[in-house]
Amino acid sequence: MRLDKFLAISSIGRRKDVRSYIKEGMVKVNGSLITEPAIEIDENSDVIEYLNKVVTYIGKVYYMFNKPAGCVTARRDDVNKTVFDYFNDVNMEGIFHVGRLDKDTEGLLLLTNDGEFEHKLMYPEKHVEKTYYFWALGSLHEDDIKKLKEGLYIQKGEIRTRPAKIQVQNCGTYKEYKHEMNINNLYNIDSNYYNQPVVSGYLTISEGRKHQVKRMLKAVGCYVVYLKRVSIGELKLDESLDKGQYRVLNEDEIQSLIGNLKK
Ligand code: URA
Repeated sequence: MRLDKFLAISSIGRRKDVRSYIKEGMVKVNGSLITEPAIEIDENSDVIEYLNKVVTYIGKVYYMFNKPAGCVTARRDDVNKTVFDYFNDVNMEGIFHVGRLDKDTEGLLLLTNDGEFEHKLMYPEKHVEKTYYFWALGSLHEDDIKKLKEGLYIQKGEIRTRPAKIQVQNCGTYKEYKHEMNINNLYNIDSNYYNQPVVSGYLTISEGRKHQVKRMLKAVGCYVVYLKRVSIGELKLDESLDKGQYRVLNEDEIQSLIGNLKK
């Protein structure tokens, strides 16, 4: 592996920065000062030092996290808990979240230190499918479903959404379904809503616009009150993970995500 890449993935700095560190003489390989960022090193046997401290090779890591509602997808937040606060026993230096979920959205979130993995999954032209389970106030009629399937305009000036997949699961009144709706305390729904129609289902989108699921459903008259991401591409959320728990992805899962995606 190239020396600059090794230092970047070991969280010493961005590629651009580590190249300067190397050129400025801050890096040694097996005790010798090296000023050429492109030299090849063996990450498993060579001893690399940055400012006279040995750099430990971490390698690439991939986590699946079951995000609870109420925490924000950000490295830091002055008010709210962040997704990183759930990784107490892991060194999270250099690790970032792949895309975002809203504060009130639950479910599958990936975190990694592999920039190429993130790029492959998130690049808009890759159209990786993401499926969300929702509960919403409102009803979905045949023409609404047709609009969602064909793609619709969610905001003036924005292009039409790509065609989505929609599978309605339940429809009825709030009174009938309120115990199944998992509405968290971020929403305050009172008894005035008892006869309000509600609907649940799965919406699969292949883009990543801000609040896209909520805005698409809003465009057909439905107000989302519960949202959970259940899959990204072929990868399903491991339902044995409680909210707030995480685990590493295995090799098959990583390949199922990026195996078919070209650079
Ligand atoms: N769409 C939304 O509206 N919110 C999310 O968190 C993810 C997708």
